[in-house]
Amino acid sequence: MLRTVSASVWMMPPPAVSLTLVCAMLCVSACVALCPPRCECSEAQRTVRCASAALLRVPAAIPSDTSSLIITGNAIHRLDHSAFSELQNVTHLNLSDNGIMEIGSHAFSSLLTLRSLILNNNQLVLIHPEAFSVPSSPLQELSLRSSLYNYTSLTDLITALRWGELTNLLRLDLSGNRLVLLPPGMFAPLPNLQHLHLRNNSLVAIYNSTFSGVEQLVELDLTANAFRTISDEGLHELERLGRVRLLLGQNPYVCTCEAQEFANWLNGSKVRVGDVQRLYCEFPAALREVPLRGLGAQALGCYGTAREDIADLSLQTSYVFLGLVLGFVGMVFLLVVYLNRKGIKKWITDIHEACRDVLEGYHYRYEIDSDPRLGRVSHGQQGRPRMDQRSRITQIPSDVTL
Ligand SMILES: *[C@@H]1O[C@H](CO)[C@@H](O)[C@H](O)[C@H]1NC(C)=O
Ligand SMILES: *[C@@H]1O[C@H](CO)[C@@H](O)[C@H](O)[C@H]1NC(C)=O
Ligand SMILES: *[C@@H]1O[C@H](CO)[C@@H](O)[C@H](O)[C@H]1NC(C)=O
Ligand SMILES: *[C@@H]1O[C@H](CO)[C@@H](O)[C@H](O)[C@H]1NC(C)=O
Ligand SMILES: *[C@@H]1O[C@H](CO)[C@@H](O)[C@H](O)[C@H]1NC(C)=O
Ligand SMILES: *[C@@H]1O[C@H](CO)[C@@H](O)[C@H](O)[C@H]1NC(C)=O
Repeated sequence: MLRTVSASVWMMPPPAVSLTLVCAMLCVSACVALCPPRCECSEAQRTVRCASAALLRVPAAIPSDTSSLIITGNAIHRLDHSAFSELQNVTHLNLSDNGIMEIGSHAFSSLLTLRSLILNNNQLVLIHPEAFSVPSSPLQELSLRSSLYNYTSLTDLITALRWGELTNLLRLDLSGNRLVLLPPGMFAPLPNLQHLHLRNNSLVAIYNSTFSGVEQLVELDLTANAFRTISDEGLHELERLGRVRLLLGQNPYVCTCEAQEFANWLNGSKVRVGDVQRLYCEFPAALREVPLRGLGAQALGCYGTAREDIADLSLQTSYVFLGLVLGFVGMVFLLVVYLNRKGIKKWITDIHEACRDVLEGYHYRYEIDSDPRLGRVSHGQQGRPRMDQRSRITQIPSDVTL
């Protein structure tokens, strides 16, 4: 910028040179004097940018006519009361990525025309109740994406919203803050809020008075939370918001019979769900990636018990059929037996006689074997240990009885 100024100076005709030169010199000295070290200043856009400049505090010598102040990627852990004195024309303040842990009382109260305050990616442990108090409440946009350290910071924030009387706030971004629960009426101090971003949190439910007091809402972003369904109470609350455009995608919806009201509501609600085509079931596995809207009671398994009854009935009929078949087979068997009764009788007597012959043969051999005299003759030495074993066995019970 300075180079372009000096170049244009040398091309001017002689009479104008001295005057322009003086002006240019004045401007150069003023600009150099007023742009803080390690920052870039654009006079034309009245913008001061101090990005990743390893600053430990807000620089003091910021041009007083600055309208856009961007201090990002530094290590400013605390914003005090006097941090931004005499910067009445700043309308846009971006303080992202500074590791800010504490916002003191009236930290922004000298920024009388501040409309947009961006505090993304900080670690706010402590927010003073009067942190956002600015005379006549000019603030229209407040962004606290991934900035709240824990639940205590949220309660601090709610107090600061109330004390700040942010009646002109139109936009609030609380995305990425791991929020699980929204205290009832927490947005009530923001009566003109139009855009509320709650994306990428862990919200599980909407209650009766979650959004009470924000009647002007036109956009509500609940994308990427932990909603498994939205209860009747929650649906009632959303319905109350009337003309809002809702975003409900990327939630792990459970498509069971409990989701029936929700599915019906999506099909027929007056509230505009902007991404209604992109709401998918996460559970049960059979319905994963199936669009939630248009799922009827039957698809949601609301007739599960009736279906089981039908299954029971069919099982019973199949048992009856099996019994009939078995009975028929049994009767045929008996009939065959009856018709062949003579043959069977003959067969049985044949078998009986054959058995008797065999048994008699065995009996004869057994008698030969068990005869001690014949045994000694036929088996020799093998007979004696067998006898010993038998006597030993008979001895054991007599010992036991003693
Ligand atoms: C702030 O802006 C107003 C109107 O644009 C102007 O009159 C005033 O001089 C500016 N203040 C400073 C300190 O530059
Ligand atoms: C604020 O600054 C961050 C970091 O430089 C940048 O990514 C972001 O776009 C800025 N936001 C606004 C609203 O200017
Ligand atoms: C939040 O963090 C602060 C500072 O570490 C601690 O004092 C406070 O108890 C924490 N709150 C919760 C709810 O964990
Ligand atoms: C979601 O929020 C978490 C926690 O603040 C953050 O680390 C993550 O980058 C966010 N994800 C997206 C896609 O913004
Ligand atoms: C919501 O709360 C109000 C007042 O506390 C009560 O009258 C109303 O019945 C509640 N509605 C539901 C759906 O619970
Ligand atoms: C969705 O709504 C349409 C008309 O509004 C209706 O014809 C249809 O049956 C509904 N579908 C379900 C699954 O409720």
